[in-house]
Amino acid sequence: MPILSRRAVGSTVECARAGCGLRPGASIRVQLTKGQLAVTNERTIVEISGSAAIVTGGASGLGAATAKRFAELGATVFGLDVPQSIERAGDSVPAGVTLIPADVTSGDEVSAAIAKVVESGAPLRIVVNCAGVGWAGRILSKNGPHDLELFRTVITVNLLGTFNVMRLAADAIAKTDPVDEYGQRGVVINTASVAAFEGQVGQIAYSASKGGVHGMTVPAARDLAQFGIRVNTIAPGIIDTPMLAGVTEEYRKGLEAGVPFPSRLGRPDEYAQLSQYIVEHDYLNGETIRMDGALRMAPR
Ligand SMILES: NC(=O)c1ccc[n+]([C@@H]2O[C@H](COP(=O)([O-])OP(=O)(O)OC[C@H]3O[C@@H](n4cnc5c(N)ncnc54)[C@H](O)[C@@H]3O)[C@@H](O)[C@H]2O)c1
Repeated sequence: MPILSRRAVGSTVECARAGCGLRPGASIRVQLTKGQLAVTNERTIVEISGSAAIVTGGASGLGAATAKRFAELGATVFGLDVPQSIERAGDSVPAGVTLIPADVTSGDEVSAAIAKVVESGAPLRIVVNCAGVGWAGRILSKNGPHDLELFRTVITVNLLGTFNVMRLAADAIAKTDPVDEYGQRGVVINTASVAAFEGQVGQIAYSASKGGVHGMTVPAARDLAQFGIRVNTIAPGIIDTPMLAGVTEEYRKGLEAGVPFPSRLGRPDEYAQLSQYIVEHDYLNGETIRMDGALRMAPR
């Protein structure tokens, strides 16, 4: 890789000689990201700037942080969320992000939202599925068996909702022009959880739904390969989002102490940062990536 100075920021550097680290004829663009030099291979990358991105659950938590980051990187971002959450977000929606009311479990609502995204004119290349719910409940407790409807709801939102958005968005991405000679068109990122692997007592429904999201990753990547769409999943540990807003300081300290390193809760923008990395990394496909500070959840 050639040694580049800060003065190179914004410029395009071409391979001038064998052994320079680039394929002959390839070019790289030099970007300044939060004060660091980042070099991107212009030939094969899915460009965030100029693309349309869908982020479900975009009104809150991980989805809101991801929508903000992609908008700051120049994407036209559409956050799909339920009306109550959109109302709650109020004026806090960042520039470049449009929130569209759509329940991820509805074929009609998601289709209508994607039609609006396509109408924007920016090619849809990025989909990040963050919409999700979690309810605690044991298979059997002193109050009797787990409520069947609660189980159904968690599976419907987290698993079926993710699938629903993925299938309809993939159809729109498949209609865009490829961005490189390998036929790449876009990237889907789904959100599982460490509970997909170590569900705690009371997480039966949530773990089943997130295990399903993890399980879809490889077959989805295989199904969508012919359309040039990569599919990856992020499995976060404990992230400081509104999901944790109600917990006491003592409980929060206990959660932090359980994370080996760094011993703190994850930050929503760290999820967004990993999403960006997945989008920009052409060879990352069919993978579930844990983002958890080496946390392995105890039974309770
Ligand atoms: N925060 C964590 O510690 C953590 C850890 C692991 C996984 N996750 C997962 O990350 C995702 C985001 O979680 P978060 O912490 O940002 O939660 P959050 O509650 O802040 O955000 C979730 C968003 O999803 C939206 N949503 C719920 N049901 C929907 C539906 N049917 N249609 C459209 N939108 C819907 C909500 O309105 C909300 O805006 C979830 O899938 C969650 O399971 C979170």
